[in-house]
Amino acid sequence: MAEEKPRQFVGSVEFKKGLEGAITNESAISYVDGANGKLIYRGYSIDDLCAGGGGYEETAYLLLNGNLPTQAELDLFNADLALRRSIPQEAKDLIVQIANKCHPMSTLRTAVSLLGCLNPREFEVTVENDYDIALTLTAQFPTLVAAIQRARRGEFLIEPDVTKGLSEDFLRMMTGETPDARTVEVMDMALIIHAEHGMNASTFSSMVTNSSLTDFYSSIVAGIGSLKGPLHGGANEATLRTFQEIGDPATTEDWFAAAKEKKVKVMGFGHRVYKAYDPRARLFDPIAREFAERAGTSHLYEIAKKLEALVVADLGGKGIFPNVDFFSGIIYDAMGIDTDMFTPIFAVPRIAGWSARILEYLPENRLFRPRAVYIGDLESQYTPIAERG
Ligand code: SDX
Repeated sequence: MAEEKPRQFVGSVEFKKGLEGAITNESAISYVDGANGKLIYRGYSIDDLCAGGGGYEETAYLLLNGNLPTQAELDLFNADLALRRSIPQEAKDLIVQIANKCHPMSTLRTAVSLLGCLNPREFEVTVENDYDIALTLTAQFPTLVAAIQRARRGEFLIEPDVTKGLSEDFLRMMTGETPDARTVEVMDMALIIHAEHGMNASTFSSMVTNSSLTDFYSSIVAGIGSLKGPLHGGANEATLRTFQEIGDPATTEDWFAAAKEKKVKVMGFGHRVYKAYDPRARLFDPIAREFAERAGTSHLYEIAKKLEALVVADLGGKGIFPNVDFFSGIIYDAMGIDTDMFTPIFAVPRIAGWSARILEYLPENRLFRPRAVYIGDLESQYTPIAERG
């Protein structure tokens, strides 16, 4: 038997790669019920928050402040966010300069980094100052993402209209048109259900970064970088591209057989925590059908439903079901949004979740510093370079 490699720890160490099952801290912000497919924000189900009529701003208030607002509190919050919605000229110039040269998530990451440089209180790490920055970024993310979509299309940027709600103004700034009420309602719901999701990779990235007491902007840039990946927020873009690659519902079965053969992970399926249907996919399913019919892209929805049946029949026993990214792309595509803008749209409300988690942990902050089991050599003899082969 090969000689046991020396290990840094005495005895055996139980762990799962990717920090599976590891606990980082106690939190009251959200609960992801993986076994039953439920998502709770500060005690309220996302279904109730979507149906409640308070809009995404009500959910952002809840996540950041810990309680549902009264009407007066919500009005004040909305007015405050509206006044913070504009972005500095330097950010507009940067976006116009780079938006057609790199992925929209790279442009967003770079723009947020610039916003930090422009903030004279960037390095003031207190709950009060970080909360103020969180509010401003929550208000500015829609403006940034709308500007990125227009700049990369070579279109002029559109200024915020403080008289409009966040979702309506976001769509207007992105498309240049006044959106219909149903589209606003669906975008609002999409922002609510993407706002927060426990200790996912991008939230963890933000918190690990912030635990060194660095500035808030650096922590959010870390979250953007992680969300971009196709195993995480980038899956919504990849999933729509899968449906477009399949192209015809009649070829879905052949496509899946080939994917299985190649052991390809099917985008939009599976989750580290949900071993049942993602409740967000359940909410999006009928809306994807409705919007695909509106846009004449029903074949994409048919492909999705065929692929869902094939994957669940094959992998449902292993807890592989559609996740939040499975249907969302069909909806955004039907709204006329560019495919590689889908992940920035995911980021628009996730800034509220990242912020809430950073602000919750900061008062009793402790640096995140796990360890790895060392399995390398321990006593290698140094050989002068002249004597190396
Ligand atoms: C998001 O964490 C969050 O909360 C994230 C999120 C949020 O709101 O923040 O919910 C948003 O990121 C949703 C996930 C979007 N990603 C995708 O859709 C990409 C495709 N999914 C997979 O890459 C995967 O399911 C992950 C990354 C989401 C979860 O991966 P895990 O928990 O590390 O699971 P794994 O890769 O170790 O897979 C376990 C088994 C493997 O089979 P075996 O080797 O045991 O035989 O399940 C299989 C995998 O092959 N599997 C899949 C699969 N996902 C897992 N097989 C086919 N297709 C898939 N999508």
